[in-house]
Amino acid sequence: MASDDLRPAVVVVDGSADAAPPTADVVAVRVSPGADGAVPGPDALALGQQLGVDIPAYLQREKARGEAGEITAMPVLPAAPKGPKTVLLVGVGDASARSLRKAGAAVVRRARDARTVATTVAVDADALAFRAFVEAVLLASYSYSLKTSSKPSPLRKVTVVYAGDADAVDRATATARAVRLARDLINTPSMEKTPAWLAERAVRYGERAGLDVVVRDEQALAAEGFGGILGVGGGSSRPPRFIEMSYRPRGARGHVVLVGKGITFDSGGLSLKTSDGMVTMKTDMAGGAAVIATMTALGELGVKTRVTGLIPAAENMPSGSATRPGDVLTHYGGRTVEVLNTDAEGRLVLADGLAYAAKNLRPDVMVDLATLTGAASLGLGRVHGALFSTDESLADHLLTAAETAGEQLWRMPLVEDYRDALDSDIADLQNIGNPHKHYSGGAISAALFLREFTGGMPWAHLDIAGPARSDKDEGEITKGGTGYGVRLLLRWLEQAAPV
Ligand code: BES
Ligand code: MN
Ligand code: ZN
Repeated sequence: MASDDLRPAVVVVDGSADAAPPTADVVAVRVSPGADGAVPGPDALALGQQLGVDIPAYLQREKARGEAGEITAMPVLPAAPKGPKTVLLVGVGDASARSLRKAGAAVVRRARDARTVATTVAVDADALAFRAFVEAVLLASYSYSLKTSSKPSPLRKVTVVYAGDADAVDRATATARAVRLARDLINTPSMEKTPAWLAERAVRYGERAGLDVVVRDEQALAAEGFGGILGVGGGSSRPPRFIEMSYRPRGARGHVVLVGKGITFDSGGLSLKTSDGMVTMKTDMAGGAAVIATMTALGELGVKTRVTGLIPAAENMPSGSATRPGDVLTHYGGRTVEVLNTDAEGRLVLADGLAYAAKNLRPDVMVDLATLTGAASLGLGRVHGALFSTDESLADHLLTAAETAGEQLWRMPLVEDYRDALDSDIADLQNIGNPHKHYSGGAISAALFLREFTGGMPWAHLDIAGPARSDKDEGEITKGGTGYGVRLLLRWLEQAAPV
């Protein structure tokens, strides 16, 4: 766990594209694709000269191709006592942000056991690609472990030579710190991670970042009519919370509300999941984690928009006090919902959050993030988030921000014809689609349900059930909680006014 103290520290030093990097345990230099295999960059040639090795010959012998993220390791004999122990010849492909993101991740993964790394791999990259490189270094080196035997990686310093504006490093560091915070929150087991615990963390990290944080406990929720959050949290001995984080920069342009699903554990409630289906459900607050983490980085990134983060947090458990199938909840603002499946709980807590925002905050835009449906993950896989939006320009901006940030997002339709499946016989709505309507498309009906609570304001919904967690380490993504959403939200808020 390392969100307070970023390890490794990335230190940027000014330098030119044709000099070898400063020395370190591991030194990483560029190679690019050429017609006959990898072509060393001028930095690699300078290093070869310094060390007295024929780098082009070595690349040829190793059949290196220079593709993004390809690593050709070259051990260095102890002839040079103060020199590097290992040289990494790192493929940068077309040197785009995407390629350098791969390269950055590959470098730290290969250098995990070293103490220091120095690299010229991104020395003359454009600012976006350089930022992607540094973010990948800081994200691929993340790990989470509660093993009594686990030792933190010895890697403590990555010196990055860069000819451009070093401001990109500060932005990358702030972004990566936020993503790592989200991962820590997601990876924490639910025995520790109660709604109250999540709220405490939001207060701690939020106040450290200069935000106002207000937490409503179960009495306040009852007094103000948050029936969705109370209904979902009612089965647990650990009561729900509603977290409100506010960022108000001076002279703010516009107001964005972010809402994150904060189910600290999803057993399904009385509509109990299978044991297999429950195993990963400590991650059901990944949307909330992304919102908390995003909020903490807004100041550092100089975001000019007012942003409010709302996290309805509850533990979905079966018990004598749990909501029963057939119960009717009254949401914030008064609308009634018949609960036909207690495992469709995310939309119930989000409905309160969206209704609260629409009534009290009247923002220019609302965006929610939620591990909402298995269907989203089934349809789009484990890499893409599903985007639904009532506003074309908001959707376009989010898609662009995701692309720039290195997160995959895919637009899905809000199919009007499916809406009538949510009509209840006895309440305003029901929380799952009527099975007799045979529409299928579970991610779509969930999104249509949420739309009912947005008060007609421009709104986007990101169903992140697929990408919120990963089963493997790959590129800058680490096994467990991925922190998906933080990078794209921050890019969007940094660049854009509200819509
Ligand atoms: N948290 C789950 C969705 C989920 C499933 C996320 C698998 C990640 C992996 C959500 O609360 C849920 O249980 N959704 C149900 C909805 C259904 C009952 C309409 C689902 O997707 O099966
Ligand atoms: Mn559920
Ligand atoms: Zn859930």
